Amino acid sequence: MAENQTLDELHTPGAVFFIFGATGDLARRKLFPAIYSLYREGKLTHDFAVIGVARRPRTQEEFRDDVKESIREFCRYQAGDAAEWNEFVQHFEYKSLDINNIDGFRELNAQTEVLEEKFHIPGNRMFYLALAPELFGSVSYNLKAGGMLQGSGWNRLVIEKPFGYNLESAEQLNEQIRQVFKEEEIYRIDHYLGKEMVQNIEVIRFANAFFEPLWNNKHIANIQITLGETVGVEERGGYYDHAGALRDMGQNHILQLLTMIAMEPPSRLLAEDIRDEKVKVLRSLRPYASSEEVRENVVRGQYTQGLYKGKSLPAYRQEDKVDPESNTETYFAARIFVDNFRWAGVPFYIRTGKRLPVKTTEVVVEFKGMPTNVYLGQKHNLEPNLLVIRVNPMEGIYVKINAKKPGSESEIQPLAMDFCQSCMVGINSPEAYERLLHDAARGDSTYFTRWDEVSSAWSFVDRIAKAWKEESSDLASYPAGSWGPVEADQLLAQEGFHWWPVNGQEEDNVVWRVNG
Ligand code: BG6
Repeated sequence: MAENQTLDELHTPGAVFFIFGATGDLARRKLFPAIYSLYREGKLTHDFAVIGVARRPRTQEEFRDDVKESIREFCRYQAGDAAEWNEFVQHFEYKSLDINNIDGFRELNAQTEVLEEKFHIPGNRMFYLALAPELFGSVSYNLKAGGMLQGSGWNRLVIEKPFGYNLESAEQLNEQIRQVFKEEEIYRIDHYLGKEMVQNIEVIRFANAFFEPLWNNKHIANIQITLGETVGVEERGGYYDHAGALRDMGQNHILQLLTMIAMEPPSRLLAEDIRDEKVKVLRSLRPYASSEEVRENVVRGQYTQGLYKGKSLPAYRQEDKVDPESNTETYFAARIFVDNFRWAGVPFYIRTGKRLPVKTTEVVVEFKGMPTNVYLGQKHNLEPNLLVIRVNPMEGIYVKINAKKPGSESEIQPLAMDFCQSCMVGINSPEAYERLLHDAARGDSTYFTRWDEVSSAWSFVDRIAKAWKEESSDLASYPAGSWGPVEADQLLAQEGFHWWPVNGQEEDNVVWRVNG
């Protein structure tokens, strides 16, 4: 809690939370644990209820057991004693519902009214659709037709990605939900925006006198954004083979991170002002004008069989529910330019992939060298200054500077000043979903994506997808457990750059000064 925030300000207004898809993976791994953490921290108290909605029949007892099990397995707090647990779990109910049956929604409404009365909830309702996007439209429609939106409080719709498959399908989806909900009632989740260090980017940039003046093309040589994953497609082969890395991670998480890094300072730290600045970045992305330009600036790859920590890993095409002849990319890297005054000429290199050697999300800001450097010479090892923002799983920042080697006459060595937030005892950062649920319930949409952001991101990504569709021969391969296709290194090498190692690994020549 920030020092100047009281528990009252953080308290979530009384509401009923509807989790559609309550028997699914997202609810189990993220949503129930997030609700429990909010409860344990006093952000949810007595005036709330959660109704799990899914097709499958489930008794109230079975559902409550599922919730307990999910908290035991995935929550950062363990369930308290029996009295505390019983007090919490009495707020949970289940409703088996066929989402095409309006009568079912009427029954749900009646069940909700009983809970609202029991827990003195002032009619606020939050509908979380942890469902396939094809169902968003009909659920929204039936919520209205079934009388669920006529309560005395607010109604909010929270929806998960993927928001469409391309701009056209996203527009259709948007039109469907907009027939029922206003834009300000729609909270589109990009869970990366709920991550502690992503939100910290704003503070690092705008609250530090020594970063902001340098944050432009005069001083920054390039920016690198890496979202690496060690996992393959796990049980999601069916979805992933249709989506690929560009749609799964690029259109949303990576472009959102890029907007946070590149946006202008907002005039006020209010949701709409921040989102206005972010959308300007998306509109300034230089579109690739032809398939040729896509080929020059974007690399895509798919993992083949490989070795990781001595273990043999299957090729993507051997994964469950994946087409054995699939041309879907499991990796992509791109060189992007933001065509505005601040960033003209600065390449942003982005990359993401499955089955890379490290699970990491990191942003590296590489500064330009000193113009007339008195230290240039044989015995000096002058490296560019770096600011590295570690988002996940390690959280922190480090700054790489050049300093005199102690004891030497004038020998220079790189020095990394490393602040590792997640290593600090007692710091247990809230999960992204805790923040996002809490924000949505309080009506703070800062870290949710607005429709114009989503549509601008699709416009950019669609051009790449279109070029790939026309030309399937440029799919590179990389062994599972490696850093992706070599072509991605060439993207940077063309301009004399290279990918900086993530997590500070491999940087043997650097002396580390770690906090603590
Ligand atoms: C999801 C993608 O949005 O993000 C997954 O669909 C990916 O494919 C996941 O694994 C990564 O999230 P995180 O928070 O683990 O980095």
